[in-house]
Amino acid sequence: MYTDFLVLEKSPCLQGISELSGAKNAVLVIMASLIATAGKSTLHNVPFSHDVFQMISLLESLGAQVVIEADIHSLTIDTSSIMYYSVNADIMKKMRASILVMGPLLARFGKAAIALPGGCLIGDRPIDMHLNAFARMGAEISLDGTYLYAQAKRLTAERFILAYPSVGATENIMMAATLTEGKTTIVNAALEPEVFDLVAILKKMGAQINLLPAGVIEIIGVKELQPVTHTIIMDRLEAGTLLLAAAVTGGEITLPEGPGHSLEVFLEKLSEMGHSIDIGIDGVGIHLKATHSPRAVSFKTMPYPGFPTDLQAPMLVAQCLADGVSTITETVFENRMLHVRELQKMGAHIELDGMVAKIKGVDTLYGASLIASDIRASAALVIAGIAAQGTSTMSGIHHLLRGYQDLCGSLQKLGARITVKSEIA
Ligand code: UD1
Repeated sequence: MYTDFLVLEKSPCLQGISELSGAKNAVLVIMASLIATAGKSTLHNVPFSHDVFQMISLLESLGAQVVIEADIHSLTIDTSSIMYYSVNADIMKKMRASILVMGPLLARFGKAAIALPGGCLIGDRPIDMHLNAFARMGAEISLDGTYLYAQAKRLTAERFILAYPSVGATENIMMAATLTEGKTTIVNAALEPEVFDLVAILKKMGAQINLLPAGVIEIIGVKELQPVTHTIIMDRLEAGTLLLAAAVTGGEITLPEGPGHSLEVFLEKLSEMGHSIDIGIDGVGIHLKATHSPRAVSFKTMPYPGFPTDLQAPMLVAQCLADGVSTITETVFENRMLHVRELQKMGAHIELDGMVAKIKGVDTLYGASLIASDIRASAALVIAGIAAQGTSTMSGIHHLLRGYQDLCGSLQKLGARITVKSEIA
């Protein structure tokens, strides 16, 4: 059997204009939300990453009919023929976001069975908030081997005060509540742009959702939701990754569709490093011209609008090559520093204490044999590999393909020296 790996070589300053894909974290939940409708919906600006294909398989396994038009980044999903409520263990194990089908399945059919989720290796990633919420709404939850069952004759509207603004729990509660009679309230809801894209499509379907100040979302249940056409928002995390690739190679990049309005804290940190950043009118369009003497900056990851945990790993690479000492604290996930060990192999000076990394910038990283362990760590290692002296190899490429439609292709167009090779496993 052959497995693919990447060969990454020291690259010239990345230069050029790059298009973005639709947001992976928005499209997955939006595809799941279509379960709550009966009919044919069309999604545009779909990024065809491996996780999206997993979600297609999941929906097909429930009985949905999916038409893929990859050349125009569109998907048509007909959910009228859904007749199964149980999600195949193979699919659940490959993609943790599969948990997001529970809310819409419960809302439309009153039952859902899922195998316990898999996904990235970034910690335990419990789903207690999702399950407690469904239980409070009246669902009976039971566990049988690896399968989780939820069943409710009728869900009831509740007021939820989330101890933490979980993205997935906010989305699942919202989807379940759209067809639940009465007013459901989520206090301390997640406010990520991808959550708002879900709100936008649910409202088009006919859901009644009010966004109140201070992170409160109110959902007033309706009898049914209609199929819709929707264009997925641009991927702010892909945008951040491309900007960092240009920054570490001392390059210059323009992202005409770059969602600057959704990356403010991140862009502020790039500016503090000394990079020149321009954002277009209304916050759309980002241009970065890299400084050749970047300064180290410290940050903590936070729920939106704080520094995104999904850009922590690639930003950490930039600190490895900056002048001075920085401290990076991961507060969102308890095991999201697996890239540190790989960067140390490349000569990075990083002291790791739990989820706090203290980094002393070095002049040069050196090519090494790297192993990617999760989606964002894989993007970070690609960036490190094209900035480092010599040649690196990166295995675990499937993580990269789960999260990005074609990150390597975008980087190659900007001048990055990346090739995909195969070896006998
Ligand atoms: C989503 C994103 C992921 C991003 C994360 C935070 C998708 C497909 N994935 O993941 O890329 O990094 O938001 O922005 O959209 N938690 C619990 N119990 C729960 C749920 C969550 O303890 O029931 C904890 C998690 O372990 C984690 C924290 O809450 O420590 C944040 O998780 P959450 O916001 O739910 O992230 P995801 O929705 O899984």
